[in-house]
Amino acid sequence: MTPPTDTDTDTDTDTDAESVALAFSGGLDTTVCVPLLEQEYDYDEVIGVTVDVGQPDAELAEAAETAAALGTEHRVVDARSAFADHCLDAVRANATYQEYPLGTALARPVVAEAVRDVAAAEDCVALAHGCTGKGNDQLRFEAVWRDGDFEVVAPVRELGLTREWETAYAADHDLPVEGGNEGAWSIDTNLWSRSVEGDALEDPSYVPGEEIYEWTAPPDGETETGTETETETVTVGFEDGYPVALDGEALDPVALVETLNEVAGAHGVGRTDTMEDRMLGLKVRENYEHPAATTLLTAHEALEGLVLTADERSFKRHVDQEWAETAYEGLLDAPLMDALEGFIEVTQSRVTGTVTVRFEGGKARVVGRESPYATYAADAASFDTESVTGDIAQADATGVAKYHGFQSRLATAATDAADEETGDPDDTTVVTDGGEQ
Ligand code: ARG
Repeated sequence: MTPPTDTDTDTDTDTDAESVALAFSGGLDTTVCVPLLEQEYDYDEVIGVTVDVGQPDAELAEAAETAAALGTEHRVVDARSAFADHCLDAVRANATYQEYPLGTALARPVVAEAVRDVAAAEDCVALAHGCTGKGNDQLRFEAVWRDGDFEVVAPVRELGLTREWETAYAADHDLPVEGGNEGAWSIDTNLWSRSVEGDALEDPSYVPGEEIYEWTAPPDGETETGTETETETVTVGFEDGYPVALDGEALDPVALVETLNEVAGAHGVGRTDTMEDRMLGLKVRENYEHPAATTLLTAHEALEGLVLTADERSFKRHVDQEWAETAYEGLLDAPLMDALEGFIEVTQSRVTGTVTVRFEGGKARVVGRESPYATYAADAASFDTESVTGDIAQADATGVAKYHGFQSRLATAATDAADEETGDPDDTTVVTDGGEQ
C-alpha cells in the first residue's frame, strides 16, 4: 500500500544513521507516521516522544504500549509544570479565543520544545509531527521547530493522508491501533482543557449528548439520584495576578488546576460549544471542557474589577485580546508577547487578594472579592453618606451633570439648523404604518 501522494522529500545520501524525533501520542496519526518515516522518508530510526501536559494516565500508558508494540524508541517528558505556568500566565491575560481558554494552543509550544530538546540530546537530524494540513497544530509546532537546523517533516500533511487511508494502512501493516481508535471523535486533553471534535460534531446543528463530556457533570443541577446538586463555594487566593491558593491552602499550579477541574467539573462548570475560526481560515465546530480555566479566569477578572482603574481595565481588554490571539497562533515567544507581558506585569502588581466563587447550575459565579489594593472607597460610593470624599460634596456633581452630553446636544442642534436651511427632507421623523390613527 503506497501513500496517496509521492513524497517530495530528499532521500538520504550519506551513510550515517539518521534519526528523527516524532511528537508521539500513540493515536492513529502518529502511529502510522512511525513506519512511514522509515519507509517513505528513509530515516534509520524513529524516536517517539510523548510529552506529558496533563493528559489522562491511560493515554500516556497507551502511548508507551503502542511504541513498544511498534518496536520504536520511546521517551516520555514530564512538562506539566512548564505547561501549568503558561496556563496561569493566560489567567493574568484573561485569555480566551472565541470563548476557548486555549488549552491545546498553550500546550503545543511546550510539546514542541520538549521534542526538540530530546532530538538535540539524541543527535537526531529531523523533527516530525502527525498533524494534518488543515489544523492549527502544524503551524504551532513548526513555529518552534523551524527556528533551528533540524529538518521538519509532516507525513500526514505531505503525503495527503486521510483517516480512512491510515486505518486501512494500519490494518495492512498490523499496526497496534485500537479498533475504532479513540471512538468517533478526535479528542485532545491536557491540564487546561479537553477538546472534542469531528464525526457527528462536524455538523454545527448536531446537538451532542452527554457522552461527549468527561470532565463535567450535567450542569442542570440534577444528580444521578434525581436530587438537586448542592451549590459549592470556594475562595481563590491571588498574588500578582497569579492564582496561588484554594480555600486558603497554598497549591502549586498543577495541583490547583487539577483540583479545580474536579471540584468545578462536578457542578458542570466550563462547557463551551463554539464555531472556531482557525488560523488558515477554516471554520470548525469545537466542543470544550475547562472547569478550572473558567473558574480561575472568572475569579481573576473579578479581582481586576476591584483593583484596576476604569482606564486600566479598558486598555487591558485590548492587550488581553492580542495576548489570546497570539497565544492561539502558538507564538508565545513573539516579541509582541514580551511587550504585552510588560503591560500585564505592571497592572498585575496590584491584583492580589481573594475571590469567593460559587458553583451553581453549570456556572462559576463570583459572590465576593477583597484586596488590600482595592480602588474602592466604601464611603464614597455609599447611598448612606452625604459627602463623596474630603471636600467633594454630592452637590458638586451638578456642574458635571450640566456639561454631560453637551457635545451631543450641540451636534444635534447644528444638524437641525442645517437641515432647516438646506430644506433637506431626510430628517429623523419616523413615519410608522397606520400613523394616522
Ligand atoms: N481547535 C483547537 C485548537 O486549535 C483544539 C484542537 C484540538 N484537537 C483535537 N483533535 N480535538 O487549539
